[in-house]
Order: sequence, then C-alpha cells, then structure tokens
Amino acid sequence: EIEIGSAVAGGGHHASQPYPPPFTDDETYRELLGQEFTSLSAENQMKWSFLRPERDTYAFAAADAIMDFARRHGQVVRGHTLLWHSQNPAWLEEGEFGPEELRTILKDHIDTVVGRYAGHIQQWDVANEIFTEDGALRESENIWIRELGPGIIADAFRWAHAADPQARLYVNDYNVEGVNAKSDAYYALVQDLLADGVPVHGFSTQGHLSIRYGFPGGLVENLERFADLGLETAITELDVRMDLPDGAEPTEEQLAKQADYYWRMTEGALAAVGCTSLTLWGFVDTYSWVPVTFEGQGAATVMWEDYTRKSAYYAVQDAL
Ligand code: XIL
Repeated sequence: EIEIGSAVAGGGHHASQPYPPPFTDDETYRELLGQEFTSLSAENQMKWSFLRPERDTYAFAAADAIMDFARRHGQVVRGHTLLWHSQNPAWLEEGEFGPEELRTILKDHIDTVVGRYAGHIQQWDVANEIFTEDGALRESENIWIRELGPGIIADAFRWAHAADPQARLYVNDYNVEGVNAKSDAYYALVQDLLADGVPVHGFSTQGHLSIRYGFPGGLVENLERFADLGLETAITELDVRMDLPDGAEPTEEQLAKQADYYWRMTEGALAAVGCTSLTLWGFVDTYSWVPVTFEGQGAATVMWEDYTRKSAYYAVQDAL
C-alpha cells in the first residue's frame, strides 16, 4: 500500500555530466530499477545545477529520461528539489541579483520545471533542508531565504501548486526521523503555513542513517504528529552506512545491524498512519553517494556491487 522507491543514480558529483551512466549504460541496473520499485526519485537530475547550466538554459534530457523510464514501467516519480541551499549553479550563487530579479528567477524555474512534468509527479520536495540541527532557518547558507526572507518558502509552495495542482508538495530534510529540535521546527513551520492557507501537503524525512549513531527513536510518533496536522509523510532517501576504515570489508555484525535498521524503517513507514512511501537512496553500492561523501564509510545500500542481495534487502522484503 506504500510506494517503494529508489533514487535514480546519475550525475554523481559533477554537474558537467548532465546525462551520465549508469542510467544509460548499465543494463542490469536498469532492469532492477524497473522491476524492484514502484517509485523513482532523481538523485541529482532535477537539481538546479543539473537543470540550469546557465541562466537562460534548461537542460531537461536527463530528467526527461527518468520520466520516460517511470512511465514505461508504471512507476510514480518524486521530484527533487526546488528550493535548496546546495547544488545550485555558480551563475545563481555568485550572480549578485537584486531581490526582484531573484524572485523572478525562482518563480520562472518553478513554473517551468513543475509545469513541464505537471500531472506526472506524485510528490515534489519543494523545500529541502531549510533548517539547521537546532531548528533555525538556514538563513546565511540558503540564497533564497537570505536574499528574500522566510516568506519565500510559502511563495515557492504557492507557485508549485499553481504549476501542478495534483502534485503533493513536501518539506524534506535529514535527521528528522524522530522528535527533535529540527523536526519541531518543521512542525511549527507547517502549522504556520497551513494557517496561512499555503498548499503544503507533506513532511518527509530522508533517512540517511549510520549504524554508528544508533537507530533514531520516535519515528512513528514523529510522522504521525504531521499526519495529525493533515499532512502525508514519506521516507525519501534511506541508506544505512557503516564505518569501513582503510577499505575494510563489512563484518557480519555490521551487516546484521544494517539489516535491522532497514527493517525498522520499513516497519515504521508501514506502521505510521499517513506515510505514503519509502524510497531508498540507491539500491546498489556501486553508485552510492556514501563512500564519496563520508570518508571511511560505505556499504550503505541493500545490494553488493555485483547485485547480490544483502541481509538488508531481505529485511525490507520481510517487513513488507
Ligand atoms: C546527494 C547525491 O546523492 C550525490 O550524488 C550528490 O553529489 C550530492 O547530493 N540530501 C539530499 C540529496 O537531499 O539531494 C543528497 O543527494 C543527499 C542528501
């Protein structure tokens, strides 16, 4: 009854590869992506740095390829993302635009991108990672909030809704699995937005977990407090990394713990009233962002590089 999704690998860390492998080259990857999942997310291909190489240019090829793939396989798509502090092109971050012009740039982007896929996107991550760990808006880092003020968040939701009234519009972040200062900030924000009639429909937690930190408590409780406000919820970027110093192989103990985390997240997604989907941030270690991003960590997905299944894969199946 919930969607089980995966991010579509591609783009890696280089905006200079707008339409890269593995999505194009890796046949096994494509087959599994089509067979194992009912929902897809663009890992990078719908971010500003990929869609907007220049101010007057939209580069839709890679994003379109994902939409086509999803349509052929009867999959829904989560759009990711419209308003974020990260992976923005240099022309935008360094452009020194005035507020009016910046507003126009954001509105044009939302109109164009959301409009292009209108009717074909199930959920959009409209605002991504807008709070710090202690629940403050990322005012200095986020160009939109810094230059235009917090009101731009409501505007982004209104523009997205006008461009695609069917898409469910989300706030999305990491480390908000449980009840904490950051998820409290979302809870307060959502209440304010709803009170102002802003079309916000969903709260999602990414689920980038590490077995080093322990399993986050209060997942169901947290998701359900948003459901009580009338929102739907989702887990959007699940992976479970582990420490592998000096390229060590994972131990049985680490893999068992990882499997348990995957099981508990899946179980939580199913148990939480209002939770609509569980998306893995990739399903095979080969293309995982983890080793490139977190030094000395890895093995975060449910399949080994040769596509054999880990215990984590079967744990998700068991929970379902
Ligand atoms: C990551 C991608 O997986 C990487 O390929 C990219 O280099 C950086 O971004 N939170 C998010 C995602 O919302 O967009 C991030 O994806 C992971 C953390």
